[in-house]
Amino acid sequence: MKYVLLISILLSSYCYSGAQQNNSFQKEADAIIKKMTLEEKVGQMTQLTMAVVAKGGWSNQDGTLDPAALKKAVIEYKVGSLLNTTAHALSDETWRNIQTQIQDEAMMTRLKIPVLYGLDAIHGETYTLGSTLFPQNLGMAATRNTGLVKQAAQVTAKELRASGVRWNFAPVLDIGRQPLWSRFPETYGEDVLIGKTMGAAAVTAYQEDGLDQPTGVAACIKHYLGYSAPRSGKDRTPAYIPEIELREYYLPQFREAVKAGAATVMVNSGEINGVPVHADKYLLEDVLRKELGFEGVIVTDWEDIIRLHTRHLVAASPRAAVVMAINAGIDMSMVPSDYSFPELLKEAVQKGEIKMSRIDDAVRRILILKMKVGLFKNAYPEKEAALNFGLPEYPAIALQAAREAMTLLKNQDHILPLSKDKKVLIAGPAAQSISALNGCWSYVWQGNEEQWYPSDSKTIVQAITEKIGKDRVSIVGGKGFDNPMNYDLEQLKEKAKSADLIILCLGENAYAESPGNTRDLALPPAQTELAKAAILTGKPVILVLTEGRPRFITDIEPSIKGILMAYWSGRKSAEAISDVLFGDYNPSGLLPFSYPKSMGEIVMYDRKYTEDVREVFNENMDWSGYDPLFPFGYGLSYTSFSYSPLRLSSTVLSGDEQLTVSITVTNSGNREGMHTVELYTHDQYASITPSTKRLRAFQKIDLKPGESRELVFHLDRNDLAFVNARLQTITEPGDFDILVGNQKASFRYQY
Ligand code: BGC
Repeated sequence: MKYVLLISILLSSYCYSGAQQNNSFQKEADAIIKKMTLEEKVGQMTQLTMAVVAKGGWSNQDGTLDPAALKKAVIEYKVGSLLNTTAHALSDETWRNIQTQIQDEAMMTRLKIPVLYGLDAIHGETYTLGSTLFPQNLGMAATRNTGLVKQAAQVTAKELRASGVRWNFAPVLDIGRQPLWSRFPETYGEDVLIGKTMGAAAVTAYQEDGLDQPTGVAACIKHYLGYSAPRSGKDRTPAYIPEIELREYYLPQFREAVKAGAATVMVNSGEINGVPVHADKYLLEDVLRKELGFEGVIVTDWEDIIRLHTRHLVAASPRAAVVMAINAGIDMSMVPSDYSFPELLKEAVQKGEIKMSRIDDAVRRILILKMKVGLFKNAYPEKEAALNFGLPEYPAIALQAAREAMTLLKNQDHILPLSKDKKVLIAGPAAQSISALNGCWSYVWQGNEEQWYPSDSKTIVQAITEKIGKDRVSIVGGKGFDNPMNYDLEQLKEKAKSADLIILCLGENAYAESPGNTRDLALPPAQTELAKAAILTGKPVILVLTEGRPRFITDIEPSIKGILMAYWSGRKSAEAISDVLFGDYNPSGLLPFSYPKSMGEIVMYDRKYTEDVREVFNENMDWSGYDPLFPFGYGLSYTSFSYSPLRLSSTVLSGDEQLTVSITVTNSGNREGMHTVELYTHDQYASITPSTKRLRAFQKIDLKPGESRELVFHLDRNDLAFVNARLQTITEPGDFDILVGNQKASFRYQY
């Protein structure tokens, strides 16, 4: 009791001091706003890309700024924010120099308002050379380890802040339910619970030390809202999402991240039901601000205001686009390549098309953000922060994350793990690629320029060779994903003769955003041909997939003995892959999406019952509607786990009570292993057709052979809720099933 009291006193004083700080920031911001001219205000709302102030613009290679261009931005146009790099990653020291020059300039402005710089550190600090890259969110989701998500995000925050940058355009909270979409790897996969749990964990990790601390950065949750479901699958093309679905699947991650205190939000470049989100007052004002209670800065995505005029065609002129977006609730425009925005915004205010109160509102939020990240106290790169770059403990976290991401999808006749005295032939375009192990946002936007990767980055060939010795490794192919040597079928046939087995490394090379658009999820024909040739050799084939989204392997899968899904797992991908293949690590990853068989079979695990039913002639039906190659949540281990029956604290859950569900898990195999227990519920009948099942909780444990552990889950009515026809999130009384592995139990919920 004493402790409870103490905690609540501490908590309330913390909240009080948080609120106090907000109040004082607000007052300070208001005092500054009173002194500001209109030009200074619109400048604060303007964000430009580094190329505008860099010597040579986009072609700049070394981070040298152009003094005249910098003056123009900061002094003449009073620009409040900058972002991005020009060509590629720069050293942490270069970044600090850049920040110093920018703030020197800002200190020469009338009001000395510091400039806020933002970068995309989405799986580690993308744009600083030598940074630690972790698995993309898709791989992090496969780990089912929220603790690891936090650790990775903490390192990211430190390496970003060490570069003098205090604003991270991450985490991506778009849900991965459209596998064609080129940003699928940036998502936490198809499930809402995983997305919202991991997304909130990342936000917390970026921010919890305090935004003004040398280990903290402001998070930017993106891309609000509904970006990930373009109907065509192509990036930035229209989505059609009924609000009931938007609220059920797309909004919860943002709600949770706002609760976790996310400082900023970036808006979806696309349109939903014909309304570009940058012009959608309902989503920005009514939902994000009022309903979710978001008080931070809303920033656009790249060029998205002008595109209301040039692409979406909802604004008849560039100025109309500005008026539309700002009146819809945008605070800052990632313009980012010219000065059109501040000029048009000024004009619009002077003409009375935008009220000064709206401008002040946006500027206040921006100034408060700058205060929160400590820029007003010290705008310059902090010495203590710089010390946190590249610490020796980071690679171990990257390795653990990559290992836990590894998802074993097939292990016929226990072919894996391989014994280290086997002679292996390694082939496939990903075998000698680094970029195909890291993917998007890796030292360059597209992730595909290997010269920028740290020198200790390994390819799969290198990692395996180091593990088993070069005498046991032969190779077909060469460097470069598209290198024709990778597809030399004759050589493959020849070299296979002296090998015990073939490790075939297929998948996708790095891509980001629109350049990653694809017409087809089938593996490129050359890769399929290579796989078929490997199978024809008669030697066992192990397939390693390094890919950002599922590419179909349905035709070749039956003849392949082992399949390891490796995603794009960052700097330690190769080591993690070879550790799993040769048994130095027991895999525990679980698929965060349903791996489809073909384009006509893209169905999510939390489908409706009618998606399960396949009607056939004569009123016969079967239940084969969910027919992925590998289902959501699938992943094998080198050991086995068994479950006790489920124990429920009651068969009735009333009102706001909690239901306790426990289960004992035993490692029934003969090696230690990590294992995630996933708890699903199924609403037997509901006013909106219920899902077949929904993931409600997951816990990951590590068990020694023969060891058992009891896991306890607490459910309440919120875990059973859904969005009803009136768009309310409610729990209806009725019967529910709980499903954990092969165990099932039921209970009744009543008011
Ligand atoms: C992407 C954003 C990113 C921004 C800045 C855009 O193209 O959609 O996710 O934060 O660029 O780099």
